Amino acid sequence: MKYDFDQVISRKNTNCAKWDAVKTIFGSEDVIPMWVADMDFPTAQPIVDALKNRAEHPFYGYTQAGPGVVKAVVDRMKRKYNWKIKPEWVVFSPGVVTAISAAIKSLTHTGDEIILQEPVYYPFFSCVKNNGCQIITNQLKFKDNQYEMDFADLESKFKPQGGMHFGSSRIRAIVLCNPHNPVGRVWGQEDLIKLGKIVIGNGATVISDEIHCELLMKGYQHTPFASISKEFEQNSIVCMAPSKTFNLAGLSTSSIIIPNKKLRDGFQETGMTHGINLFGVTALEAAYRYGDEWLEQLLDYLQGNLDFTMKYFKEKIPRIKPVPLQGTYLLWLDCRGLGMTDKALSSFMKEKAKVGFDDGVMFGLGGSGFERMNIACPRPILREALQRIEIAVNNLKKG
Ligand SMILES: Cc1ncc(COP(=O)(O)O)c(C=O)c1O
Repeated sequence: MKYDFDQVISRKNTNCAKWDAVKTIFGSEDVIPMWVADMDFPTAQPIVDALKNRAEHPFYGYTQAGPGVVKAVVDRMKRKYNWKIKPEWVVFSPGVVTAISAAIKSLTHTGDEIILQEPVYYPFFSCVKNNGCQIITNQLKFKDNQYEMDFADLESKFKPQGGMHFGSSRIRAIVLCNPHNPVGRVWGQEDLIKLGKIVIGNGATVISDEIHCELLMKGYQHTPFASISKEFEQNSIVCMAPSKTFNLAGLSTSSIIIPNKKLRDGFQETGMTHGINLFGVTALEAAYRYGDEWLEQLLDYLQGNLDFTMKYFKEKIPRIKPVPLQGTYLLWLDCRGLGMTDKALSSFMKEKAKVGFDDGVMFGLGGSGFERMNIACPRPILREALQRIEIAVNNLKKG
């Protein structure tokens, strides 16, 4: 079956966070929303069929993920990454953010520390703070238009500081984001191994958010953190979901893979991930079993959107420099060439260009001067957004 990703379908008046909150968030109805990470494409037909079929049976009570659902997750890990996981390692959570919060709760006491690699997906900040923990920042390095992890800095975070004795670090975990939102890096095996050795070697756990792992640009490959070695497997919590890949975020279902029984029990004992969404597990199973034809076409289309956008900025808006995207559909725009304060940049995008981005400063350290643009929309919408930015930037020159 051939899917038409160029087709523009209105999402207005459908309780849609992206389109129905435009005025509230950006102050005007005529802003093109390109912020929250979902796509303006209908999902794969086999998922729609499975949901319709399930809806026909008018019992929507408490749900459990049956063996078919769990097997769909197990089979996908094997098929995509040759990672052999056991069914009992898989637990379900309404969302990955909830799961990260539960993981932190299960691993910490008040006052403990969690490492984040800023700039990073901003809900991580509240996951740490709401559990009474402190954020330790291991900021990513931006060099030659590319982001890298700073391993020397990471290592230094575990070293005794300010009168602390060796072994008294209160760092309990790092939240790894792979692929990384917002900078779009797909971390390679070498990076993951270095990170794992430092973090696990110092007695902390890796909470690996891999929600974007199937949204990869051409030539990139994902490695689940825990698949690297038995040691990594036993000291990590891997968060996966079909929600970004198949555009199912409203169905609140993610699968969390925790091979270590003690970590898994601790995670479940938080009680935070209680309750499974009936339609979510139905969609997950259909997506993982029958969604690949759609996904292949989607990835081609997203690559086309990326190529189109990179060329457009280069040729027509050279003062804004997108960071090359390896994974996710979230493009990180270096807008420092516009020479604006963050406040002015934010107003410029929404009020002059009329595009609704997430401001870089929301993502913490290293976000100043950047904007995050969601390019997962039909090309006519993308073109319109780029034209708006081009005109607004050109008007700046005149002004
Ligand atoms: C890195 C990352 N993690 C988690 C989420 C949200 O996950 P969920 O909706 O399952 O809580 C997002 C959504 O944008 C994300 O980008």
